[in-house]
Amino acid sequence: MSKQILVLPGDGIGPEIVAEAVKVLQLANEKYQLGFVLSYDELGGAAVDKYGVPLADETLERARAADAILLGAVGGPKWDAIDPAIRPERGLLKIRSQLGLFGNLRPALLYPQLAEASTLKPEVVAGLDILIVRELTGGIYFGAPRESRLLANGERMAYDTLPYSESEIRRIAKVGFDMARVRGKKLCSVDKANVLASSQLWRAVVEEVAKDYPDVELSHMYVDNAAMQLVRAPKQFDVIVTDNMFGDILSDEASMLTGSIGMLPSASLDADNKGMYEPCHGSAPDIAGKGIANPLATILSVSMMLRYSFGQIEAANAIEQAVSKVLDQGLRTGDIWSDGCRKVGTVEMGDAVVAALATL
Ligand code: NAI
Ligand code: MG
Repeated sequence: MSKQILVLPGDGIGPEIVAEAVKVLQLANEKYQLGFVLSYDELGGAAVDKYGVPLADETLERARAADAILLGAVGGPKWDAIDPAIRPERGLLKIRSQLGLFGNLRPALLYPQLAEASTLKPEVVAGLDILIVRELTGGIYFGAPRESRLLANGERMAYDTLPYSESEIRRIAKVGFDMARVRGKKLCSVDKANVLASSQLWRAVVEEVAKDYPDVELSHMYVDNAAMQLVRAPKQFDVIVTDNMFGDILSDEASMLTGSIGMLPSASLDADNKGMYEPCHGSAPDIAGKGIANPLATILSVSMMLRYSFGQIEAANAIEQAVSKVLDQGLRTGDIWSDGCRKVGTVEMGDAVVAALATL
C-alpha cells in the first residue's frame, strides 16, 4: 500500500536542503521498495505569499491526510514586518499543535569525523550521543492569555503564560522514559521547579511516571544548571526531557557540541508516531540562495522518518551510514569544514550521500 509523504520546503535555505533530502528519500524509496508517494505544498513565508496565511486550511488537511511530513524551515526578514498573527513561525506552531505533534526528538550526536568542528575540547565531546526530548505543543509558546498593550500611564507592557496540564506532562515524560529505556537507561528531567509552578507540577508528574520505569535512572536538574552542564560535561547525559521553551534553547546549545546545527535532525511525533521531520535549524537567511547550506540535518531527518514513522530500520540505518561514509571521504559544507577537508556545496553534498547510499 502506498504511503503519502507531504513535503513542505518552506523558506530561505529550506527548498535547497529539502531538494537534497528528497533525492535521498527517493533513492531509499526505490531501493527498499517503500511505496512512498510525494506531494508538495507551502508552509511559512512561502505560504503567506501564496495563500495569504502561513498555514492554509487546505495544507493542514493535506498534512492530516499524509503518513509523514518532511519540512525544511520557515521564516526570514521578508516577513519580519508583517502582522504578528500571520508570521511564518505561527504556521509552524499551528501545524505542530493541530496535528498533536507533542513529542520532539532532537538527537545530538557527534560524528567522530567532525571532532575538529566542535569549539569544545575533543575530550569533552568525543563520543557524544545524547537525545533531547522536547515538549512541543504546550507551555509558553501556546499559553493564553498573551498580550501586548499600553498601560494607562503610556508605558507598553506585554506578557505570556506558561501552562502545563498533568496529561501534557505525563505523555511527554513517557516518551522520555521510553527513549531512555532503549538507549542508556538514564533520564534527566529539566525544569525550573525552584521558581515556576508549572515546573513543580512537571517534576511531580515525572516522578509518578517514573514508577512504571524502574529500569531507568531518573534525575532532575534546573534548566540554568543544565545549560552549564551541557558545555561542562555533556556526556553525563543520555536522554533529557524538558518543556517547550527550555528544550528549544537547550537543543540549540547541544547542537554546538556536535560542531554545527547543520548536522542536527529532528522528529516531532504524535501519540501514534505519525510525524513531521525537519532539521533543528532555521531558514538561515544569511546563506539562503548561495548553495552552501548543509543538507545533512534534513537528510538525517529522512532517516528519522523511516525509523519512527515507518519502522524501516534497515533503510534508516543505511542513510546514516551513507552520511558517515561521505564524512569519511572528507566532504564538508562550510559550517563543518576544517583544514584538510574538501569544501562542497549543498548539491554536491546531497549527490555524494545519494552515491554512497546507492552502494550500500
Ligand atoms: P538559523 O538556524 O536559521 O541560523 C543560525 C545560524 O546557523 C546562521 O548563521 C545560519 O547560517 C547557520 N545555519 C543554519 N542552518 C544551517 C545549515 N543547514 N548549514 C549551514 N549553516 C546553517 O536561526 P536564525 O538565524 O535565528 O533564524 C533565521 C530564521 O529562521 C528566522 O526567521 C527564524 O524565526 C527562523 N527559524 C525557523 C525555524 C524552523 O523553521 N523550525 C527554527 C529556528 C529559526
Ligand atoms: Mg529553535
